[in-house]
Amino acid sequence: MAAPKDVIWPRDPHTAAKHALLRRYLQAWAPIMLSRNEVVTYAEGFAGPGIYSGGEPGSPVVAHHVLSGALRRSPRRVKMVLVEEDARRLTELEQRIAAAVGTSRSGTDRLDTRIARGRCHPDLLQQLTLAGSLRHPVFVLLDGFGGPEVPFQLLREIAARHRSSEVMVTFQPAFLVRFAGKDERHRAAGDTFFGGDDWHGVFQQPRSMKAAYLRDRYRESLQRAGFQHTLVFEMIDEAGHLLYLIFGTRHERGVEKMKEAMWVVDTTSGVRYRDPKDPNQQALDLALEPDTGALRRILLGHLRAAPAARSVDQLKKYALLETVYRPTQVIPLLKRMRDEGDIAVSPGRIIGSSTVAAVRQGALF
Ligand SMILES: C[S@@+](CC[C@H](N)C(=O)[O-])C[C@H]1O[C@@H](n2cnc3c(N)ncnc32)[C@H](O)[C@@H]1O
Repeated sequence: MAAPKDVIWPRDPHTAAKHALLRRYLQAWAPIMLSRNEVVTYAEGFAGPGIYSGGEPGSPVVAHHVLSGALRRSPRRVKMVLVEEDARRLTELEQRIAAAVGTSRSGTDRLDTRIARGRCHPDLLQQLTLAGSLRHPVFVLLDGFGGPEVPFQLLREIAARHRSSEVMVTFQPAFLVRFAGKDERHRAAGDTFFGGDDWHGVFQQPRSMKAAYLRDRYRESLQRAGFQHTLVFEMIDEAGHLLYLIFGTRHERGVEKMKEAMWVVDTTSGVRYRDPKDPNQQALDLALEPDTGALRRILLGHLRAAPAARSVDQLKKYALLETVYRPTQVIPLLKRMRDEGDIAVSPGRIIGSSTVAAVRQGALF
């Protein structure tokens, strides 16, 4: 979307889905983190005004609601650190958070909120330091208007300070695809964002591959920053706008919980996901009966490329860490693939230790 000029603006379908995902994830994240840490922090570098023109809450208010709820069931503390550049939006945000404190039933006495005017970098790190948050786990939402606005250096610092810290970054590839080829200033912004110039290969990619190419380079950037596991959510709204939400964590449990959140988010608003590993790049409707066609293609490709048969447990882990699918979707799919002659399973029953190999025209791969 083009950056709005008004203090508040209408909430678009990307944003509604993003908030649903955030709410679900924080509902899982907060109790787990509070059971292990005295203090945890939720932070935003592009906090926004805290409300949309239809009255819907902004992400800091969504987070505040979930976190104050979690504190009703925990004796521990949560900090919120919110940075916003625009003074008018900051004032609105302060009012929205004050209203959220006013309406919340309890728990907010152990929810300290620090709202600061500033730029995402370096001000967010400075505010996190002042809040004493960097000694504890931090979940950081970096949700700008989608351009290359988040410096790689910031991600590296967040990853380096605590091994349980996690990030979620919004990235709209259209800006770099459109402008960075000819304009040196935009190219430099891209280098700061990716932490290097590997992404310049995008200029040699065919048009249809450019966005996916940038997505994959950015995933590598997050891994280089220290977030070993990444999940990419590709969101396409009804108007065909493409936005990546990229999540980085060091923990398999984080991946698992984020995926669970993703699979229950209502996608009736026209927002869909696509698995980066699917050779057909099919857009997925996350319905009650999920379409696992993409997972089938991905697993077959993986089995064909593997030097030896894989165990069912290995395939579940692969699904968890490398695709948008959940491990619980693997065994029902393997049963269908076996019945339809795509794979051979040994021994015949499908359990964690069974081995699986791809079959082609009656021969094992
Ligand atoms: C997409 S909005 C954030 C929306 C919010 N996360 C939500 O979901 O409700 C981006 C916000 O970042 C602010 N902004 C833009 N550039 C910034 C920067 N460099 N540092 C901090 N804030 C910035 C804008 O004023 C805007 O309010």
